[in-house]
Amino acid sequence: MKESAITVIGGGTMGREIAFVAAMSGFQTYLVDVEERFLANAREQLTKSTARMVERQRVSQEAVDAGFQNLTFTIDRDTAVRQSSFVIEAIVENLEIKRQLFAELDEIAAPETILASNSSSIVSSKLAAGLLHPERVCNVHFFNPVLQMTLVEVVGGEHTAQNTLDRALELSKAMGKTPVVVEKEIFGFIVNRVLMAIVGEALHLYEQGYASIEDIDIAIKEGLGHPMGPFTLMDLVGLDINLGIQELAAQEPNDHLVPEVSATLSSLVQEGKLGRKTGKGFYNYNK
Ligand code: NAI
Repeated sequence: MKESAITVIGGGTMGREIAFVAAMSGFQTYLVDVEERFLANAREQLTKSTARMVERQRVSQEAVDAGFQNLTFTIDRDTAVRQSSFVIEAIVENLEIKRQLFAELDEIAAPETILASNSSSIVSSKLAAGLLHPERVCNVHFFNPVLQMTLVEVVGGEHTAQNTLDRALELSKAMGKTPVVVEKEIFGFIVNRVLMAIVGEALHLYEQGYASIEDIDIAIKEGLGHPMGPFTLMDLVGLDINLGIQELAAQEPNDHLVPEVSATLSSLVQEGKLGRKTGKGFYNYNK
């Protein structure tokens, strides 16, 4: 089934690029945010990042022009949603705010319109509970930066209809992405779980005195062929973000993945050493 139009809710880091990729792929697309100034910023950021891509010959100017032509920036959420057969939510990572939004979308959207969440950590059963049409709810998890990263994790829960997953897969492919399916809900899906395992073990080896931060990074780079080691990666992502993920994972019942939050991460965050963005983390960037 070819989707009639796509609405992306939340014009931040993720939402604006998800919307742009949909628009560039030929879909009539609406990007919704709560205030005009957020939409103006989204347009500005997209103009900059697509200009860089054209410069590097990753995409043609014609494709970018077509993207902007197919994309409507709007604060009129309800009109956009009524006209769309597929809605992707990419708003702040807050369960209560997302639940409220899904409850409203469930009433506004036509019953066959898919409601998908781009959340990294909230599985869609938490958003579908109590809705009239939970069968059309799933997770569609894109990766940052969406303009470049091709992976999409499509995740269904017990409430999700097969047809919902099929349409999410079809849309991802039509957007030029490579979707994978996560058959049952699990915290962190595939990529972030495997990453958390690597990061958790790297921290364990360092904290127990088996190897230095530098040597663990070298080992993972040279031995596993990763583009950077786990400590360099944590500094890049932000130690506060990493700590937040560990804290969330530790709250998951019966999950072996992160039994304990790392003491090293906690104390670095308390000292305000958050990685590259503050100039200090596991490494010092102020030299
Ligand atoms: P962000 O903070 O950059 O953007 C969120 C946007 O949503 C803001 O523009 C905000 O004004 C808007 N917003 C908030 N409440 C709204 C509402 N009720 N209606 C409409 N717009 C609203 O956030 P970001 O980083 O783009 O993350 C969004 C979602 O994507 C989160 O669920 C996050 O877990 C997920 N995600 C983030 C990744 C990342 O690397 N940043 C990677 C993959 C998923």
